[in-house]
Amino acid sequence: VHRVAVIGAAGFGGAVGAAILRRHPSIELTGVTARSDAGRRHDELYPAYRVPLQLEQFDPDAIAERADVALVAYPHKAAAPAVRSLRERGLKVVDLSADFRLDRESYERWYQPHEAPELLGESVYGLPEAHREQIRTAELVASPGCNSTAALLALLPLRGRIDDAVVDIKTGVSGAGREATEETHFVSATDNVNPYKTEGHRHVAELEQELPGVRFAFVPHLLPIDQGLLASCYATPSEPLTRDAARELFRQAYESEPFVELIDKPPHTRDVRFTNRATVYVTVAGDRVLSFCAIDNLWKGAAGQAVQDLNLMLGLPETEGLT
Ligand SMILES: NC(=O)c1ccc[n+]([C@@H]2O[C@H](COP(=O)([O-])OP(=O)(O)OC[C@H]3O[C@@H](n4cnc5c(N)ncnc54)[C@H](OP(=O)(O)O)[C@@H]3O)[C@@H](O)[C@H]2O)c1
Repeated sequence: VHRVAVIGAAGFGGAVGAAILRRHPSIELTGVTARSDAGRRHDELYPAYRVPLQLEQFDPDAIAERADVALVAYPHKAAAPAVRSLRERGLKVVDLSADFRLDRESYERWYQPHEAPELLGESVYGLPEAHREQIRTAELVASPGCNSTAALLALLPLRGRIDDAVVDIKTGVSGAGREATEETHFVSATDNVNPYKTEGHRHVAELEQELPGVRFAFVPHLLPIDQGLLASCYATPSEPLTRDAARELFRQAYESEPFVELIDKPPHTRDVRFTNRATVYVTVAGDRVLSFCAIDNLWKGAAGQAVQDLNLMLGLPETEGLT
């Protein structure tokens, strides 16, 4: 049994991570941390997740005594020093934030000066469908962004065949985390839909890294749903592609993927809610390839994927605790 702690378990991503790990047959959840909620029980904060542990203040020495692996669910910038303190104590880490997803130059262009640049060399981008073998041997894995996960699963089988893609994302309000903002406040979000960050969303940096050479127009939209994310991607192939040929590319890419399901009709977010599944649909209309991917942003888009990474890092069956 592997001993795992969740750092930032009062946040949306960390809370789902704690819920999954608590039920994982090969893992013992040995600690959950929070700041303002320290001292309260996790199941008081999130009764549905049924994690009967008391939240504690983050102390890397105390965590290192009880855990060999940590899932860190802090916002970017705050994550890097926490990850460093755990790596210094020998823990393997899966980090949910953007801090270890990009190279330094790209990170500092989209975010801010990096807080632990010395760790960038060892981190692996945690999309198992693209980097499974590297994840297996990694000690630090950066779980991809939710938007990037869905967009990449919709586009990766087209790698080398497209020069540009329009990526239209629809996302639920939990994507923005536990702290309500003006945009995600119920009164702003309900009965409403709006694009945001139209001049450049930082998740595009992950797409440019994983699909080099492709130009992107990337526009997220906020929907009045809680958990769920849909990526609709429109690309013009460099060489004409029939619908059958496109489907064959996707079939080959995903036939042995445990969490990616190629379906023959457009995906719905509700069908993957509370699961680590991604449903993908591809078709051709006119000269465009249209591909779609639905995920639950807190599962395959965050904590579920992080546990999938953790399973790989620990040599466990990839789907354990997630089905
Ligand atoms: N939500 C998603 O769909 C999603 C998807 C993929 C990746 N992620 C990434 O996962 C990480 C966690 O996201 P989340 O949605 O779970 O966010 P969240 O609900 O806001 O939770 C973040 C937690 O981090 C803690 N924290 C520690 N240092 C902090 C600081 N300096 N400022 C603010 N909070 C701090 C907070 O703890 P206290 O509550 O105890 O103060 C908070 O509970 C982020 O890096 C996010 O980008 C999120």
